[in-house]
Amino acid sequence: MSSLFTPFRLKDAELRNRIVVSPMCQYSAEDGVINDWHLVHLAGLARGGASLVIAEATAVSPEGRITPGCAGLWNDAQAEAWKRAVAAIKAAGAVPGIQIGHAGRKASANRPWEGDDHIAAGDPRGWDTIAPSAVAFGANLPKVPRAMELADIDRVKADFVAAARRARAAGFEWLELHFAHGYLAQSFFSTWSNKREDAYGGDLDGRGRFLLETLAAVREVWPENLPLTARFGVTEFDGSNDLDEGIEMVRRFQQGGLDLIDVSIGFSTPTAEIPWGPAFMAETTERVRRETGLPATTSWFVSQPKQAEALIAEDKVDLVSLGRPLLADPHWPYRAATELGLDKAAWTLPAPYAHWLERYRAA
Ligand SMILES: Cc1cc2nc3c(=O)[nH]c(=O)nc-3n(C[C@H](O)[C@H](O)[C@H](O)COP(=O)(O)O)c2cc1C
Repeated sequence: MSSLFTPFRLKDAELRNRIVVSPMCQYSAEDGVINDWHLVHLAGLARGGASLVIAEATAVSPEGRITPGCAGLWNDAQAEAWKRAVAAIKAAGAVPGIQIGHAGRKASANRPWEGDDHIAAGDPRGWDTIAPSAVAFGANLPKVPRAMELADIDRVKADFVAAARRARAAGFEWLELHFAHGYLAQSFFSTWSNKREDAYGGDLDGRGRFLLETLAAVREVWPENLPLTARFGVTEFDGSNDLDEGIEMVRRFQQGGLDLIDVSIGFSTPTAEIPWGPAFMAETTERVRRETGLPATTSWFVSQPKQAEALIAEDKVDLVSLGRPLLADPHWPYRAATELGLDKAAWTLPAPYAHWLERYRAA
């Protein structure tokens, strides 16, 4: 039996295999409202056979969008539009999930294929950004954010709570908090971006406070029987010895009611030296999983079925998250099942496809 195709249950979410669609921004919404592009994109990934489809980083407020094209959940019209995508994901047999976040100092940017930089000052498409401290990311994102006041912190936490409620109202059954990649939550945790001298800065207790308070507030409104997860950059790869702190933070998330951690990278400084390579986050994820006991997943250059199978079989991760391999081939799970020599039982393709492919393969 294949480890990759062994079902996985987390609370009431039943995953048919271990293959997860990692959240991927499409930068194609209007006023935060998703459209047919997102519907076809997400439904296609679910039809391809992944067990959990996590919809893209979805902003909890207009200022929390990365780009003007980012999806949102700060109003009911946005939640309404998500309902069709949720229904399509479920109809294809996958669990519908969503990532909610706030882009912090990395907000107000052009789409990746239109520059990937901050929208120029004076351009009406841009907006003022906020962050723990008035420190810019640098490089392609030089805009200096406004340091948040305590009232801003309370407001953003309330925005996360409201977005979580709307996610549930739209039918999502898996919620991921975006605490990674140099966006607002990660930038509270990181000493690169958090220079505060109040209760939200300084030592680990201070820098972790915004994240833990946000988690606690969302946990109160997100159903106890459904998974509440987070994506978090446990390390920056900036030459500092920060992994122990990152793991301690995950431990605190767990104590705060988190159900699974998606182990990722901090991306808080453009000077990081990230050791890109096949499955390069797997060993770190294994360590996080072992030291905290929390179920874990990771992505980053897991592209080969045998590699994914080994990551599960060797207990490095509970789930493998795939991004670009699924853009290249939404039917990657079917290909994986065939490459691993599994019979039709492992296929998760719906009958209008599976029926014909079975005959085709036998021919
Ligand atoms: C088009 C695109 C959009 C992405 N958007 C998000 C996002 O919304 N949230 C997030 O946490 N990561 C995002 N990522 C990162 C992916 O989730 C994933 O971690 C990354 O692509 C590495 O996995 P891969 O090597 O399988 O592609 C995005 C990546 C791509 C390619």
